[in-house]
Amino acid sequence: MTSRNFSIETIGIVGTGAMGRGIAQIAALAGLSVRLYDTNPTAIGAARDYLAETFAKLTAKGKLDQARSLAALANVSGAQSIADLAGCDLVIEAIVEKLDVKQALFRELETVVSGRCVLASNTSSLSITAIAAGCTDPSRVVGYHFFNPVPLMKVVEVIDGLRSDPAAGDALMALARRMGHTPVRAKDMPGFIVNHAGRGMNTEGLRIAGEGVASFADIDRIMREQAGFRLGPFELLDLTALDVSHPVMESIYHQFYEEPRFTPSPITGTRLAGGLLGRKTGEGFYRYEDGKQQVSAEAPAPTDLPKAVWISKRYPQAREAVAQLATQAGVTLDEGVTPAADSLIVVTPFGHDATTAAVDEALDASRVVAVDTLFPLVGARRRTLMTTPATTRAARDTAHALLAADGVPVTVIRDSTGFVAQRVVATIVNIGCDIAQKQIATPADIDLAVTLGLGYPRGPLALGDALGATTILTILRNLSSVLGEPRYRPSPWLARRAQLGLSLTQGDAADIQTETQQ
Ligand code: NAI
Repeated sequence: MTSRNFSIETIGIVGTGAMGRGIAQIAALAGLSVRLYDTNPTAIGAARDYLAETFAKLTAKGKLDQARSLAALANVSGAQSIADLAGCDLVIEAIVEKLDVKQALFRELETVVSGRCVLASNTSSLSITAIAAGCTDPSRVVGYHFFNPVPLMKVVEVIDGLRSDPAAGDALMALARRMGHTPVRAKDMPGFIVNHAGRGMNTEGLRIAGEGVASFADIDRIMREQAGFRLGPFELLDLTALDVSHPVMESIYHQFYEEPRFTPSPITGTRLAGGLLGRKTGEGFYRYEDGKQQVSAEAPAPTDLPKAVWISKRYPQAREAVAQLATQAGVTLDEGVTPAADSLIVVTPFGHDATTAAVDEALDASRVVAVDTLFPLVGARRRTLMTTPATTRAARDTAHALLAADGVPVTVIRDSTGFVAQRVVATIVNIGCDIAQKQIATPADIDLAVTLGLGYPRGPLALGDALGATTILTILRNLSSVLGEPRYRPSPWLARRAQLGLSLTQGDAADIQTETQQ
């Protein structure tokens, strides 16, 4: 296969629905000539009207000057048939998500366009190699996966199929930058980067809810306010809607041959069947009135403090953090080797449940509560408190009062191996590490794709570094040993780097040195 030089000025877009329009908008604004085609003849006119309206709105808001707005609209024309796409340097398809239909379209396009035209698919779930397999020249076929809404989601995955000419992908990388987007490069594997990395938050959130640990709203509050994510798993699922996310969860799970890290939950199937799709149907995991999410207010925190608190010495830093809160609240620290008969007992496990932590240290489980210290307790926007099945109401409520004494909200959950934040975050980091291990993308592109595509505060690798790779490894190993599930087995990428004290964002040293020597 000889590499070609692809130069892109004229773009054909096939399928002028939500995605096709968005791509047309950024391309036209970047000064490219855009030809729109859709099998539904009214869709082309509707897309042009939509673009005219959008450019006019942007101009009215002062975000686009009049001349650029008119020029952008003049760049967009409609095509009567596929044959009208003959002069295009690139055709991007954003049609129905069906392999045979996409293959047929690309075969037809091949009979029309020149040998220098790149054929790109905006598929989010199909294999680029499989789409290309229907073509006479599969080397010109590349994945170009934009996110919805395209103008606001400033990242695009460029996916090389097994037979793709790297020069075609390079041309799409350059084009993305010209359109003001950040391109990331991925191998043709299910979910590419973003939809692959996104499995962690959703499936683990569902698993926690499925275990009866906490309500949907409480899990979201913890992920948002304690772990610092913009949205919790259920808010996110409501936004994307279950008719989209449930099939994606099933498809990625099956495409990886029932990989336990991606196991979906029966919760979404049932809710989908019941029509509780999310925001767009007015009810999902939350109810929506006039588009506003309805959440019940949290009950006020109890105020009766414990007389004394004994804190496990298993994790000294965590002990220190809880001791600081207790001292601030004016609660006496029980410094005994074992707890006094009436002391509240606090454990601070990583990847264990409160029960295992209590049993390990031979503590009276009826007085044991667990506090999640993965994220700093001081300066926190929320804290998580967990009980064993034997913990008394008095122990739970006095512990709640202690953790909430400085006004920080506290979520009380039932016993869970790894609380909520620990297990969700560890799962996210672990899946990100495995994407790096599988060499689907570079560590830098994995973090970039996830921050821009999923809106996470950091990419999974940087997040693991910030919280400590050894801590994440401990959480996963403890989760695996308590639950005995391969779902939580640490990725070799994480385990090796944690043990060697290396950053999760680094490739192998020898590879990096070779690159610098070149
Ligand atoms: P849509 O349903 O809004 O638009 C699809 C358009 O394609 C319709 O106007 C339809 O008439 C047209 N069409 C269908 N079959 C065609 C054919 N054989 N030839 C020409 N036109 C045809 O769909 P949407 O949401 O824009 O998605 C399109 C593609 O983009 C799908 O492959 C999807 O997987 C992918 N995608 C969608 C995302 C989303 O959030 N909606 C995100 C990323 C990718």
